[in-house]
Amino acid sequence: MADVWGHLFVSLRLAINARSFVPGNDAVIPFLVNCRLSALQTKYYLIKQPQIGRPAGVESNRRKTMLIHFVRLGANTRRLLLAALLLVITPGVAQFPDKFTNLQVLSKDISKAELQSTMRSFVFALNVRCPFCHVQKVDMSFDYPADDKDTKKTARIMLQMVAAINHDYVGKIGKPTPIQVECVTCHRGLTQPRPLLAVLAEAMEKQGLEKTVALYHDLRKQYYGTGQYDFGETPLNQLTESLLAKDRNKEAVAIMELNFAANSPGSVWAYHMLAMSHEANGEIEKAKADYRKVMELHPEDTWAKEQLDSLSSRK
Ligand code: HEC
Ligand code: HEC
Repeated sequence: MADVWGHLFVSLRLAINARSFVPGNDAVIPFLVNCRLSALQTKYYLIKQPQIGRPAGVESNRRKTMLIHFVRLGANTRRLLLAALLLVITPGVAQFPDKFTNLQVLSKDISKAELQSTMRSFVFALNVRCPFCHVQKVDMSFDYPADDKDTKKTARIMLQMVAAINHDYVGKIGKPTPIQVECVTCHRGLTQPRPLLAVLAEAMEKQGLEKTVALYHDLRKQYYGTGQYDFGETPLNQLTESLLAKDRNKEAVAIMELNFAANSPGSVWAYHMLAMSHEANGEIEKAKADYRKVMELHPEDTWAKEQLDSLSSRK
């Protein structure tokens, strides 16, 4: 049995290492929950397999030998050991309680499996982990019923809001199976579910052009391809429109140039916005080139043609 614990020890280390490579560690949770059974099987398997033992006389180089030995185990055994240990060291899954004492919105009769999957849906919808809403004590265990965190209180309001949306509104549009609004419908992996246009427009107001451009680059680096924000041309075209409407022409040019640098948009709309920004900012030659590009893309564009003619007849 001591050898078994040796293996568990090695597995624990491997598991901890593995966990630190998992981005947003909660991604392993669904897998872990499914491994509950496997964990039990592992225990059984270990007891039934006396040949899984540490070779004698390896005390000096214990860790390395155990590691080698661990690698020698069958792939299935290894998988089970890892699963078992990941389970043990994942707080919040391993210690998910059986009884719930402070449910105020969810049904008091909710099953453990259902509550777990509800909590996991929160985690994925907001791209956070359990401690975002739940108090974690110094020993890393959780006080799930505690209501100390504002985020947990907000989540309750959100639960009520979502229930109301589905029941009182979506439920009344007369479809037999209307699409249900969920946390992820709005949140999409963000705690603050705002579209990119709103984020950038606010930054522009509060922090100015330079910080807004930097913020765009930061967000793009962090989130590109994971669906939180639309990094296509549209939000930047829209931001440019709103800046032009406020005669903030220099900023409009900068945002449109950012758009071309980041997205190389090929749309008529984008070239129109670029042309209008350059024109409004007094960069007439550039504006003419942009309108010519519009004409190339869209030969029937009478408006672009008029702009081009009027710019050409200036001076
Ligand atoms: C976005 C916030 C949020 C996140 C993230 C979250 N929870 Fe919760 N959790 C809640 C809310 C809100 C309740 C109470 C629901 C109610 O009052 O009906 C709750 C209740 C619970 C309860 C029942 C507590 C009791 O006894 O009343 C458990 C257990 C729990 N969560 C576990 C978890 C675990 C495990 C995770 C991570 C996988 C997690 N939660 C992530 C918001 C969250
Ligand atoms: C209809 C859109 C919508 C849906 C659906 C929605 N939320 Fe929200 N949620 C918001 C908005 C908007 C905010 C930000 C409010 C603010 O801070 O101004 C927010 C904020 C939050 C916050 C606070 C975040 C923070 O940083 O303080 C939590 C927690 C949260 N929502 C949880 C949930 C959960 C859990 C669900 C599903 C039960 C959910 N939300 C469903 C729109 C939504």
